Amino acid sequence: MAIRNIVKNGDGLLRKKSRVVEQFDQRLWTLLDDMTDTMRKADGAGLAAVQVGVLKRAVVVEVDDQLIELINPVIIEAKGKQRGAEGCLSFPGEWGTVTRPMHVTVKAQDRYGKEFTVSGSELMARAFCHELDHLDGKLYVDIAEEMIKE
Ligand code: NI
Repeated sequence: MAIRNIVKNGDGLLRKKSRVVEQFDQRLWTLLDDMTDTMRKADGAGLAAVQVGVLKRAVVVEVDDQLIELINPVIIEAKGKQRGAEGCLSFPGEWGTVTRPMHVTVKAQDRYGKEFTVSGSELMARAFCHELDHLDGKLYVDIAEEMIKE
C-alpha cells in the first residue's frame, strides 16, 4: 500500500470521463488499496481513481468507519434532499454549499467483479453522489451555491 499524489484543481484530468473497469486483477486491487491509504492520510470521506491520476470507474468511500469500494458504480435510486457543506480533496481548504439527495442506492461491482447494491443516507449519500460525479468529470464547485475558502 502506498500514498499517491492527489490531482488538484486546475488539472484537466479532473474533467475527463473515466473508463469502465473490465479487469478485476492485482493492478486494480493495488489501486484500491492505495486510494484508501491516500484518502485516509488526507482525512477525506471519499476518493475517485481520477483523483490519483487513473481514469478508471473506481471509488472508495469511508463514512463512520465503513469502507466501501465501488467499481463501475451507478445510482439506481435517490430520495429526499439535503443541503450542506461539501469539500473535495482536489480542492484543499475550500468548501461549498451543495444540495444532494438524502438517501441514495448504488449498484456497483466489488474488487472481484461481483455485483452488489448499497444504500446510504446523509454523509454517505453525499459521498456517493460526489465521488460518482468525479467519474464523469463533474466537480462539486459546478453546483455549489456558494464557496467558502479557508
Ligand atoms: Ni472530490
